[in-house]
Amino acid sequence: MKCKRCRKAAAAVDLPSHHSAFCPDCFFLFFRRQVSEGIRKLRLLSPDDRVLVCVSGGKDSLVLWDMLMELGYRTEGLHIDLGIEGYSDRSREKVLAYAGARGKEPIVVDLRSEGVPIPDAAKHARKEECSVCGTVKRYFFNRVAAQRGFTAVATGHNLDDEAARLLGNLLHWDRDHLSRQHPLLPEGPEGLVRKVKPLWRVSEMETAAYGFLKGIDYVTEECPMSRDATSLVYKEALSVIEEKMPGTRRNFYQGFLRQDREVIGSLGVPAGDEEAIRGEDGPEREAAHGAAAVPAAAFAGACISCGAPAYTETCSYCRLKERVIKT
Ligand code: AMP
Ligand code: FES
Repeated sequence: MKCKRCRKAAAAVDLPSHHSAFCPDCFFLFFRRQVSEGIRKLRLLSPDDRVLVCVSGGKDSLVLWDMLMELGYRTEGLHIDLGIEGYSDRSREKVLAYAGARGKEPIVVDLRSEGVPIPDAAKHARKEECSVCGTVKRYFFNRVAAQRGFTAVATGHNLDDEAARLLGNLLHWDRDHLSRQHPLLPEGPEGLVRKVKPLWRVSEMETAAYGFLKGIDYVTEECPMSRDATSLVYKEALSVIEEKMPGTRRNFYQGFLRQDREVIGSLGVPAGDEEAIRGEDGPEREAAHGAAAVPAAAFAGACISCGAPAYTETCSYCRLKERVIKT
């Protein structure tokens, strides 16, 4: 089959959901456009931003970093070494190798040195590894960004991740999570840095194809601690539907972002901000981030122990660390 864009080279990537198939060069153009449009439509980033790109060593986050650099954003990488024997060492190596080849030195937070390697922290706190891991990662993403003057934190969540999460939140009618499920979480009080997901328009397959064709070397194994089988079930369910009806996943997620005012209001977004949510059709604004896409969570203030944004007197990370140290 010939590439549907240039009609010269052989197609290398088949995209049924876009009724298209591209050769590598045309696919790069397509991918770049999807990401840059995703950033522009929801005003995720502006050229003045200093972006902290959270890189796990997996394909999504390395592709994200690659693309943001190609688009000309000022970026630095942040890798959290989770302290999981073998897996964390291999992940860290991939990040260092990727960055080194591009003359970059990523910021690395080593959870062993911080006293909270995930396996031990989960055992002492008597919690699931994934839940502890989420708390610790969120904490360091924000802390590193706030302390070092970054204006945005970017993660590699893709369309499949976000659609699966949306399905899960809808199946449980989790209004709280639904109200905060958006590719843009604005900066908040007490040093809460803006969070963005620039890959929200591209699928997992498209990201993998981009990584492969660009020769990006990433860690392919799954985290051995991951027991989050539920998100995989939602992904599988959506894949079955997508296979029979290409484009459904994208419509499902973009439809959610385009919801009408009434629905958005009921999810807790302040009146007047629906343009940012509607994104796809909303008019351009002069200033990026003039409107918050979703409200920043209501924070009680600064953690009395570390000064980070916290719902309670002490933030969840400091409470976790205290439990780990005590036991
Ligand atoms: P996950 O929650 O593992 O699906 O990862 C979602 C996103 O979080 C990734 O695309 C990365 O941007 C970021 N991330 C996950 N793990 C790490 C890590 N160990 N260090 C830095 N960023 C990470
Ligand atoms: Fe967090 Fe595995 S990536 S526990």
